[in-house]
Amino acid sequence: MIPNHVGIIVDGNGRWATKQRKSRSEGHAAGAKNLDVLCEYIFNKGVKVLSLYVFSTENFKRSDEEVNYLMDLFVKKFKQDFKKFSKKGIKIVFSGRREPLRKEILDIIDDITLKTQDNDKGILNFCLNYGGHAEIIDACKKIIKDNIAVEQLDDMMFAKYLYNDLPNLDLLIRTGGELRISNFMLWQVAYAEFYFTDTLFPDFKKEEFDKALESFNKRERRFGGINYEKKNN
Ligand code: FPP
Repeated sequence: MIPNHVGIIVDGNGRWATKQRKSRSEGHAAGAKNLDVLCEYIFNKGVKVLSLYVFSTENFKRSDEEVNYLMDLFVKKFKQDFKKFSKKGIKIVFSGRREPLRKEILDIIDDITLKTQDNDKGILNFCLNYGGHAEIIDACKKIIKDNIAVEQLDDMMFAKYLYNDLPNLDLLIRTGGELRISNFMLWQVAYAEFYFTDTLFPDFKKEEFDKALESFNKRERRFGGINYEKKNN
C-alpha cells in the first residue's frame, strides 16, 4: 500500500558535509539536489501529499551565514522547481509563520501558492519557518477571532484552521539518526507510522525511500481500535 501523506524531517546535511570535508553550505546544496530527484520519485510512486520539514522556527538560531545561505537556496530552488511540479499538476503550499522571513521569500511563496492553487494531482507542502506548537497556537487564535462556538469545535473544524487543510500523516520519515519529532506536524502526526534511519539526507535516495515503504507495509494500523479480523484468526 502506498501512504497517502508522507512527511520527511530532512536532517543530516551538515554531518554529511563534515564527513566529506565540505562546508555546511555544500551539505545543504547536496540535500537540495537529492530533494529534486526524491520528490519526483515519491509522487510517481503514488503518494498524494508530501510534507518536507526544511526549516524550523528554531533554525533561525544558526549562524547568519548559514541562515542566509539557506534562504538564498530556497529562493533559487523555488523559482527553478515550481514550474516542473506545476506541469505535473502538483499544488505547492507552505506551512509556517511569515515573520521574520524576508520579503523576497514571502513574495515567491505567495506567487507559487497562487499559481499552483488549482492543481489537483498532488500537494507538496514546504514547512518553512515552521513549528508544530506555533501552528496549533496560530489556529487557536484564528478560531477565537472567528468567534467559533465551543460546541462547533471538533477535529475536522480544528484541522481547517491549521496552516493548510491537509490529511493526517500516514508515514513520517526522519533521516540523520535522531529519534525525535522536533516539533514537526504535531497535530497531523497523531496516527502516523514512524520510520527513523541513520542515513544522512543527501544519501537518502530512491532505494532508501523504498525501504521506508517496505517497513510501512509491515505495520498493522489500528488507529486506536482493534483489528477484529486478525484477532479472530
Ligand atoms: C537539516 O540538516 C537540514 C536543514 C536545516 C535544511 C534543509 C534544506 C535543504 C534540504 C535544502 C533545500 C531545500 C529546498 C526546499 C529546496 P542539518 O543541517 O540539521 O544537519 P546536521 O544535523 O547534520 O547538522
